[in-house]
Amino acid sequence: MFNHQVFNPILKTDFIGHNVQYFETLDSTNKKAWELIETDIKNGTIVITNNQINGQGRRGTQWFSSKQKSLTFSIILNNDYIKNYQSFLSLLSGVSCVKAIEKIYGMPCGLKWPNDIMLNNKKIGGILIEARQKYLVLGIGLNVNENNHDINSQIKEKSTSLKLYYKKNIEIELLLATILNEIECHLKANTKDIIKWWTNYCIHMNKEINFHNNKIIIKGNFKGINQNGEGIISVMGERKKIITGAVNI
Ligand code: BTN
Repeated sequence: MFNHQVFNPILKTDFIGHNVQYFETLDSTNKKAWELIETDIKNGTIVITNNQINGQGRRGTQWFSSKQKSLTFSIILNNDYIKNYQSFLSLLSGVSCVKAIEKIYGMPCGLKWPNDIMLNNKKIGGILIEARQKYLVLGIGLNVNENNHDINSQIKEKSTSLKLYYKKNIEIELLLATILNEIECHLKANTKDIIKWWTNYCIHMNKEINFHNNKIIIKGNFKGINQNGEGIISVMGERKKIITGAVNI
């Protein structure tokens, strides 16, 4: 069930989240979002489920979530609206999630390039953005009310949930509305500010990292984000851009 009584009074956006498409169970909210786009859906619609059973992660991975405990949703965005912003959408979405969690619960979350949401050096959330023709689907998954035994054994070592830190149950609709407020607000920000916020939240600035891309691993020192939104690493004194792939710390 989706609790509109909690969600509606918190939501302060002009368009994101005004239409909520809630499903008890879905394969993937991103996948459902693409189906709904075929039906000419409103810009800013969110697709949310209580039970995502085949979530998609970045780089073809699977995203694990727990029934009634995880926050799994996708936002449908008209590409025209954020044309100049597309490369920054991934960074600003991560910033928005961290700011929302900080605002409500004061938890010290951070970001791992490009947009993994981290708590205590463990992952609590991820973002998958897909673009087709004039639409973007921005999918966000967060581990919210999982206990230790709810976290899939394949990711247990490297993942945690907000509840495991906060020790209390968290209201999904409150968290969701706050994230949507932050995302819409950041969509209006300039790229310099997005880079500044992202850098402040980055947990591996000027640290040695391993960059993985298509089975190639590069060791380097993470130097931040350039003005195009690309990551920069220094490898034996040479600066290299990182665009796709993942960072291991
Ligand atoms: C990652 O690999 O870090 C990105 C994970 C993104 C998961 C979310 S959950 C909601 C949306 N629906 C999906 O199938 N994936 C995204």
